[in-house]
Amino acid sequence: MSPGAMVPSRVAAAAGPGAWLAFRAPGRANLIGEHTDYNDGFVLPVALDLATWVCGRPADGVLRLDSLDRPGTVEVDLASGAGPDESWGRYVTAVVRALRDAGVALRGFAGVLASDLPLGGGLSSSAALELAVARAVLAEELPPAELARICQRAENHYVGMRVGVMDQLASAAGRSGHALLIDCRSLAVRPVPFPSALRVVVLDSAVQRELSDSAYNQRRAQCEQAAEILGVAALRDADQALLERHRERLDPVVYRRARHVVTENARVLEAAAALEAGATAELGPLFAAAHRSMAEDYEASTPELDLLVELAAATRGVAAARLTGAGFGGCTVNLVEAARAEQAGAEILERYRAATGRQGRAWVCSPADGAGPAERR
Ligand code: GLA
Repeated sequence: MSPGAMVPSRVAAAAGPGAWLAFRAPGRANLIGEHTDYNDGFVLPVALDLATWVCGRPADGVLRLDSLDRPGTVEVDLASGAGPDESWGRYVTAVVRALRDAGVALRGFAGVLASDLPLGGGLSSSAALELAVARAVLAEELPPAELARICQRAENHYVGMRVGVMDQLASAAGRSGHALLIDCRSLAVRPVPFPSALRVVVLDSAVQRELSDSAYNQRRAQCEQAAEILGVAALRDADQALLERHRERLDPVVYRRARHVVTENARVLEAAAALEAGATAELGPLFAAAHRSMAEDYEASTPELDLLVELAAATRGVAAARLTGAGFGGCTVNLVEAARAEQAGAEILERYRAATGRQGRAWVCSPADGAGPAERR
């Protein structure tokens, strides 16, 4: 957390005068390492300078939040964990319940909530919401990995999405100016310097993610099936040689899912090494291979995401491009020369609109710090 992350003025104004507590939790863009987290593998996300904010005051025994972005007040009873089970409120309830299960001390909190993140747009607005809520009600700080596990459990157990730990840990442990190489088995986080000459340009395809929940859970089950047949605890423990030896015993679809995960883990380590060595020219081919693998082996891309990546490859200043996050819609992540970032994003979106009739959106971001307290102006 950079000293003095400033609460946006609309949030401060809504929180009213007087003493208050404020917290910020960022969204993330994953540079590379998709669908590897729940296979105990490696990921390389950055926390973004787009975040979810909560601002309010201690309250007695409840968590009460008004959203500035969506209708309704959400109230969760801290003693019983009773709270709403639908819309954004279910994430709030889920976090309180998971924190209670973990046996950590909570305090009441009443205030407002707002986000700079596109909601449900593939930049982990849910993980940012979970982390912001957790920070608001925690009586004392927890280490990032522990907090991330609790928020992941909230989503797995109480929301019903079998997500991995990447989004929550990226939001909890982000480091300004760095990407995070995360080992999703040990939860070790290694900050890797992000080149100051590049920006992270996120482009939204403006395609609603369809059937993403069931497709996500299905992919995860296919990976578990592959691991069992290969005789490993998780696909993290497999390499291509092992996979080829067992190819005959694997359903062809399951084989391709496993091939994506095995090759993607290797690409993450190569990309982190390239970043560490300042060899940014190596990132383009790695991102391209990762995108192809997500499209062909994991079948998690869409024609619109493929087009955004193809257009990016033909745009001056773009060093690397691929879809980011779960897929099935959402956003691409582009590494772009700083001086070209705005313009390159605009050019890609203009050609995208001409080809599809869809109006995408662009965010020019830099890697930011993880969840923590924020200050008023
Ligand atoms: C979603 C999940 C993550 C991860 C990605 C795919 O963002 O929340 O845990 O599995 O998809 O890499």
